Amino acid sequence: MATADGLAERAVAVLAAAEPLEKLRLSEKTATDWRDGLITEMGRAKPPDRPARPTRPALVPPREVPRRRIGSETSGRIALLHAVAHIELNAIDLAWDLIARFGPDASEAGLPREFFDDWCQVAADEARHFALLSARLAELGAAYGDLPAHDGLWEAAQTTADDLLARLAVVPMVLEARGLDVTPGMIEKLRRAGDETSAGILEVIYCDEITHVAAGERWFAWLCRRQGRAPGPTWEALVGQHFKGVLKPPFNDEARRAAGMSPDVYGYFTGLGS
Ligand SMILES: [Fe+2]
Ligand SMILES: [Fe+2]
Repeated sequence: MATADGLAERAVAVLAAAEPLEKLRLSEKTATDWRDGLITEMGRAKPPDRPARPTRPALVPPREVPRRRIGSETSGRIALLHAVAHIELNAIDLAWDLIARFGPDASEAGLPREFFDDWCQVAADEARHFALLSARLAELGAAYGDLPAHDGLWEAAQTTADDLLARLAVVPMVLEARGLDVTPGMIEKLRRAGDETSAGILEVIYCDEITHVAAGERWFAWLCRRQGRAPGPTWEALVGQHFKGVLKPPFNDEARRAAGMSPDVYGYFTGLGS
């Protein structure tokens, strides 16, 4: 049966859920209802400046987050998996925030249903990633919230809250693409430490994340075409304006290419590109 709330209202309900289990449940249900055609309206609802979160983990400056030395010691692997779980929880909220914040106007401006199909799928993937990592943390005797975490990802959301193109330029095309650069090294270290189970989870995440970067790249290019802007220079300008960090090589050119990203564009920031 069709639900009364539009997709934007449902997205805001996920953002308002503080407990990860509830955030996961609502994410999965909303993505499924959207896919099954049970949500018939985009609706309109204001997303919060900050999504609701559990009381733990404590959010601290990046240098105070425990280092993740990956080896046979369980503590290092727990620190790594905890940090990735925190990224995934942020990623769930980032996907719903994008839908709630930009969806209503974007759908009026002619963005097709496939745009929302993609971001609902991203949100469902991120929820599954968080669930996989939580289960693995439990097997290792830990839980999400046990360690402090940093708040950098949400800062990226706040600096791009007014501009969908900027959001796409920074979140999937810088931050998630960075995940593609660093994840194979983590998988390798976990494998060397004999933790095949954790390595397998990161492999699942890695494959899914290529599709997330690809969705960002595809819709960024789509919007640029509609606005008569050149994607490469537009991306460079928006990243220069909204992203405070640096793009760190080495880049995973193979995964980035698989996601549709051109080294000519992202190499620009390191002087390697045009
Ligand atoms: Fe993810
Ligand atoms: Fe992702």
